[in-house]
Amino acid sequence: MASLSSPTRSRPAFDVEAVRRDFPALQQQVNGHPLVYLDNAATTQKPLPVLEALRGYYERDCANIHRSIHQLGERATEAFEHTRLVAQRFLGAGSAREIVFTAGATAGLNLVAQTFGRMRVGSGDEVLITAMEHHSNIVPWQMLCQEKGARLAVVPINDAGELIWEALEERLTPRTRLLAVTHVSNALGTINPLRQIVAAAHARQIPVVVDGAQAVAHMPVSVAELDCDFYAFSGHKIYGPTGVGVLYGKSEWLERMPPWQGGGDMIRSVSFEGTTYNRVPYKFEAGTPHIAGVIALAAALEYALRLDPAAAAGHEDGLRALAAERLAAIPGVRLIGTAPQKVGVLSFVIEGIHPHDVSTLLDQQGIAVRAGHHCAQPLMERYGVAATSRASLAAYNTRQEIEALAAGVAQVKEMLG
Ligand code: ALA
Repeated sequence: MASLSSPTRSRPAFDVEAVRRDFPALQQQVNGHPLVYLDNAATTQKPLPVLEALRGYYERDCANIHRSIHQLGERATEAFEHTRLVAQRFLGAGSAREIVFTAGATAGLNLVAQTFGRMRVGSGDEVLITAMEHHSNIVPWQMLCQEKGARLAVVPINDAGELIWEALEERLTPRTRLLAVTHVSNALGTINPLRQIVAAAHARQIPVVVDGAQAVAHMPVSVAELDCDFYAFSGHKIYGPTGVGVLYGKSEWLERMPPWQGGGDMIRSVSFEGTTYNRVPYKFEAGTPHIAGVIALAAALEYALRLDPAAAAGHEDGLRALAAERLAAIPGVRLIGTAPQKVGVLSFVIEGIHPHDVSTLLDQQGIAVRAGHHCAQPLMERYGVAATSRASLAAYNTRQEIEALAAGVAQVKEMLG
C-alpha cells in the first residue's frame, strides 16, 4: 500500500480554470475577443472574496476604526486588525506590531526614507541601490541624499539583468548607511538572491530595505528567513485593492524611528506644548486609512495563501518558459531580461516598431500588455531603449493566452515590421 509520502502519490495539478472563475473581470470580451489580461505587474484583477469584502464593509460595517464605541465601529476595527494578523502570517513576521499599513509600496518606501533614512544618513554617507530599481526605490533615496548631502551609489547589472555580485560587494563600503533593493524587477522579472544580499550587507552592519511589490504575488516570502530590515508591498499587485499596502519593519527599528506624518490615531496625547506618540505600529498610521482596502487586503492575502503560493509559482513558471520560447522564436523580437531566476515578466522590443504601437494592436485583439519605461528609466537606458512592451503573468493566466500573445505579436510584426 502506498504511504502518504509515496512518490507515486502526485499532488493535484494547479486548476487554473477554477481560479479563473473567481475573477469576474476575466470573463469579459474586449474588442470582440475574450480578454487576455497580461498586465499583472501593473495591477492584478480581483477575486470575488476581495470584491465581497469591499462591499461588505461599505454595506454593513462602515465606521471609523480605533475610535467609535459602537457596533459598527467595533466590527470595522476588528476586521481591520484581523488584516494585520493575516499580513503577519503572510510575511512570516515575528509580531503583528511589525506590520504598518500604508497606501502601497511607494508610500512604504517613502516612509522608510523619511524616518529611518533621515535618522541614519548624514553628510558624506552613501545610500546603495541597484540599476534595476523602480522609480519608487530610486527617487525617495535621491531626495534623502539631496537633503543630507549624501551620495546615491548604484550596483550595476549584467546583460541578462542580474546584479553583478562583485560590484555589489565592492559598493558595500564603510560609508554605506543602507541598501535599498528590489526583490523582483518589475521590468525584467529578475529574482534577486535576497538572502545572500541581506547576509552580505548585515556582515557589514548595513540594514536592507526591500521593495517587494513584484515578488509577493509570485512566491512565498518569509521576512524572518530573509532577515531583511524592511519589506514593502502593495495590495493591488496581489489581487487586493489599490491604495493600500504593507510595510514590514523590524520592531527594533520601528521603535527607534520618528513618526512620518502627524495627525489622528498616531498620537497618545496632544497639547500646544508638545505631543506624545502612539505605540508602534500606530505611530506610523496617521489619519483615517483606507479601511475598506485594508479589510479587503486580508481577503486577497488569504486567497493567495489558499491558491498555494508554491503551486501557483510552478504554474506561472511553466507559462513564463512557454512565453519566452514563443516570443524569442519570432524574428526581430528581442527579449530584455533573461536571468535564469525570474518571474513571469516578459519585456521585449520588436525591431523597428514602437512598443506603444505593439500595445495598441494587441489591444485590438483583446490582449492587454503594458508599453513604456515601466517607471524604470535608468534601467531602460542600461539596455539602450526608451521603452519596451511587457507581458506580465499571474496565477490565472493560461497556456492558450500565451499562444494568443505569441500569435498577436507575430501578426504585429507582419503588419508593421
Ligand atoms: N509599478 C507598476 C508596473 O511595473 C505600475 O507596471
